[in-house]
Amino acid sequence: MATWSAPGKVFLFGEHAVVYGKPGVAMAIKPRVFVTVRKSRNPTRPRSPYINECFKRMGVWGSVYIRSQLQSSSGLGSSAAVTVATLCAINDEFGLGHAREDIADMAFTIEKKVQRGRASPTDTYVSTNGGIVLISGDARRRLPPQGLQLVVGNTMVPHSTTKMVEMVGDLRAKRPEIVDPILDAIGAVTFAALHSIHNPKELGRCMDMNNALLEALGVGHPTSSRLILAARASGAYGAKITGAGGGGCIIALCPKRAKNRVAGAIEACNGRAIITTIDTVGARKEKHD
Ligand code: MEV
Repeated sequence: MATWSAPGKVFLFGEHAVVYGKPGVAMAIKPRVFVTVRKSRNPTRPRSPYINECFKRMGVWGSVYIRSQLQSSSGLGSSAAVTVATLCAINDEFGLGHAREDIADMAFTIEKKVQRGRASPTDTYVSTNGGIVLISGDARRRLPPQGLQLVVGNTMVPHSTTKMVEMVGDLRAKRPEIVDPILDAIGAVTFAALHSIHNPKELGRCMDMNNALLEALGVGHPTSSRLILAARASGAYGAKITGAGGGGCIIALCPKRAKNRVAGAIEACNGRAIITTIDTVGARKEKHD
């Protein structure tokens, strides 16, 4: 029996713009998905197309048990974390000898198949490797870890990443003269943020600007706006939508002393708050009996 876990992720900067080749920054966060795989003659496992594809791809069969600290469809990369942890646990239980890079590639292929063509290579890369990752075109590179203090606010409004990405694509097709400069500006904010990575006040301002630009792309939601305003009013350096928007989650960058206050303000607006910081480990072995 092998148990592996893999973390969720947030986009710190650049979501949507990365789809058009602009830079972005994503970070693995502490909440994880834990997956146990056991060789078995009569396999039992949750009904999940991601898990079925993992076994198909690896060419073996076994039982699976999942425990998740990540809400699905919230934009925190839970399906990528499930896929990565399942592949790692199968790899370990059946002694298949795949390297970490193979696991990240396989996980992306599986996500793409299950999500019918649209998947984020960022989610599977970040979940496998952990840390802060700079996305630049097709390249992904780990940056030095930073102890950013974050509060994630889940609006509890389910959203579809595919739909939101399509919506931005439609808007761009209709109004390229407006949307292209917005995407360029998001790229510029990401670069400015990279230069201010050690200055949380400045980083917070970059988050606020990034959020305004995401709103201009039409991926805001009244509930996320409420959570963002509440987080700022209760002491966050800055706050923004994270991921595809249209619901899902927001993040607030906070001074350590304000984290509980910001979390309380988010909960007072009926959001679910997660106080968290960077995960530097990525996929991790928990147990092998
Ligand atoms: C979704 O978490 C982030 C998007 O930029 C899509 C992607 O990067 O694949 C909206």
